[in-house]
Amino acid sequence: MNQAAIHRALQGHIQKDPGAAELKRLFEKRLAANFTLLQSLFFSLYPESAHRETFFRLQDQLYSLFKKRSRDLKLQDLRRLEEGNWYQSEKWVGMQLYVDRFSGTLKGLEEKLPYFEKLGINFLHLMPINKRPKGPNDGGYAVNSYTEVDPAFGQDRDLARLTSSFREKGICLMLDFVVNHTSDEFAWAKRARKGDSEFQAYYYTYPDRSIPDLFEESLPEVFPETSPGNFTYIPEMQRWVMTVFNTYQWDLNYTNPRVFLSMLENLVELANKGVDVVRFDALAFLWKKIGTDSQNLPEAHRLVSLFRLCLQVVAPGVIILAEAIVAPHEIVRYFGEGALEGNECEIAYNATFMACLWNSVATKKTLLLNRSLRAMPPKPDPCTWINYVRCHDDIGLGFDDAHIAALGWDPGLHRRFLLDYFCQRLDWSPAKGAVFMYNPLTGDGRITGSTASLLGLEKALEEHNAAGITDAISKIGLLYGIVFASPGIPLVYAGDEIGMLNDYSYRGDPDKSDDSRWINRPVHDWETVSHLEKEGTHASEIYRNIQKLISLRKELPILADQDNTRLHDAGNEHLLVFERGSGEADSLLVVANFDSSAQVLNASWLTALGYVKNGEYRNLIDEGSKGIRSGLLELPPYELLWLVKI
Ligand code: GLC
Repeated sequence: MNQAAIHRALQGHIQKDPGAAELKRLFEKRLAANFTLLQSLFFSLYPESAHRETFFRLQDQLYSLFKKRSRDLKLQDLRRLEEGNWYQSEKWVGMQLYVDRFSGTLKGLEEKLPYFEKLGINFLHLMPINKRPKGPNDGGYAVNSYTEVDPAFGQDRDLARLTSSFREKGICLMLDFVVNHTSDEFAWAKRARKGDSEFQAYYYTYPDRSIPDLFEESLPEVFPETSPGNFTYIPEMQRWVMTVFNTYQWDLNYTNPRVFLSMLENLVELANKGVDVVRFDALAFLWKKIGTDSQNLPEAHRLVSLFRLCLQVVAPGVIILAEAIVAPHEIVRYFGEGALEGNECEIAYNATFMACLWNSVATKKTLLLNRSLRAMPPKPDPCTWINYVRCHDDIGLGFDDAHIAALGWDPGLHRRFLLDYFCQRLDWSPAKGAVFMYNPLTGDGRITGSTASLLGLEKALEEHNAAGITDAISKIGLLYGIVFASPGIPLVYAGDEIGMLNDYSYRGDPDKSDDSRWINRPVHDWETVSHLEKEGTHASEIYRNIQKLISLRKELPILADQDNTRLHDAGNEHLLVFERGSGEADSLLVVANFDSSAQVLNASWLTALGYVKNGEYRNLIDEGSKGIRSGLLELPPYELLWLVKI
């Protein structure tokens, strides 16, 4: 049982209209239930001998933060606790978007609600909307404030209006909490620059290179091309500051408990605005230690749990997403382990799954995908994934080398093949992607590009290649169809639903030109949207496929994340076959052909599973029953089936 389940049990059935005293009583119960864990986590990071008083301050702070939460949100918290694991429902379908590029402003976004409704989107990840530096700001991931809306997007009251209309319509809102670093213009950074030692201690700052050099011995570089090294010299304060990402993103020093208390305040203030899911950005980097790579350290996990359990007391209806794009065995640790199982983050990005899907596109084989899925460590019951095809970042090739080697492939050469395939280094490849952060010393690089361009649509359109266009449309449906049927919340990257291509305009913007991730952050193409009703365009076909998959998903309770996924070995290296359900009448069998040639499945195998009867099968995607020929079910290139029992 995780702490949320304990709170559910302690809360019991909620009164019809609980008054303030009752709400406070329930808060106190939650605090009491979490107290021992909070205390042991806190003192494990900040020793009791020096920080006992600070811990008592934290206790007071929790109550004052709770008092600031609105009654509406407090009631929602209780309802969500009562419902339990509400985020595992098959009804959630998400979209990730940049407000400025999608709708201009927050007000503009409100006007787009019918667009989401029509497509079936009810979960929105809005990329950072808070105040940020005017020049380069890493797409808003350099923050000048955690709680104020950047004037370019609107006013704080626009966000308040938006969140309340989301609540009315049952739309779930996810916002970022850039927990690892602030911008160099943040109030604390400004004070530090002026020589204020209290605020210099909010960051990792040093008067000379001796400690930075020790760190550098084992710290990898995140942006080796544009921001080599992990420290930046700030002449005004005559100190080096740790900047693991860009030089203008200063890493917060969580070994200082004041930083934790201040950031908790920011976190709850964000939650109190009506945010349902908080995306903990770059949380693998939260704790730094000389002699290590300062990623995924045990202290970072304890720190995230500490945030989680404080939030659990103040705002138990708000959950946390781990943005940890790390090895699979490391990712699942963000769900919490041991006594903290289910008490760290409720959701994590299924990054390995995403990368393996792209590997299958390039190789036309599912060997690595199947192998990685089988090797995936189990996750705790109360947790779930975000499944996605593309996002605003690059596609990292972080597969397990041992898995690649077990297939008889050379890991280094295989990665190079993937870069070549997706980044226009092979004439025959249909993909039009770009390399991100190529490191000539190691040959490592990552891939960027829009889903449609990476899947061949851009090149096929340029070449007026009708067959290529058809293939690209099928491949988009294939990847999204897998994601929509997988356990977790599926996230559509805005623009993918209409097959938007790479956007090369960033190259002319000096604030963006050195960051090829901008190739996949286009301004939404409303012109195309206005013609979606017209049959026969590639955009309308892609849109209709995605819209249909979404509505099918929502009608299949078996797709809720309830640990009911079984991977099948279809004996064909081009196919991915998995089943949702445990063989009951309402189970679903997903069959995906990654090959450019037709493949076949043995009908007797499908009959034994219950998906073929009297030579007939029923595919929800392409309605109606279809026949089998010569005991074989034929799958055209890039075919996707969602089979139900007949
Ligand atoms: C996360 C974001 C990425 C950003 C980085 C630093 O990985 O997804 O876009 O550059 O954090 O904040």
